[in-house]
Amino acid sequence: MSIERSERSERPTIVLCPGGPMLVRGEAVVQTQDGATHRTTRPVSAICRCGATSRAPWCDGTHKLLPKERRPD
Ligand code: FES
Repeated sequence: MSIERSERSERPTIVLCPGGPMLVRGEAVVQTQDGATHRTTRPVSAICRCGATSRAPWCDGTHKLLPKERRPD
C-alpha cells in the first residue's frame, strides 16, 4: 500500500495507532497492492493495518476484535 499526496491538497500527516489503523489527516490518495486507488474524503481517514477489515483499505474497527498477537504493532 502506498499513500500519495493529492495534487490539490497540502501535505497529509500520518499517525500509526498502536494495535490499530493508520490515521491520515488531509487529502491523500491510497493505492492498494492491486493498483486500485482510493481518495480520502474525510478530514481524518483511518486506513486498515491489520488486514481484517471488510471495507479495505479503510479501517472498520475489526482490529479491536482480534487477539493482541494479530494486531499491528
Ligand atoms: S486496523 Fe482497523 S480493521 Fe484493520
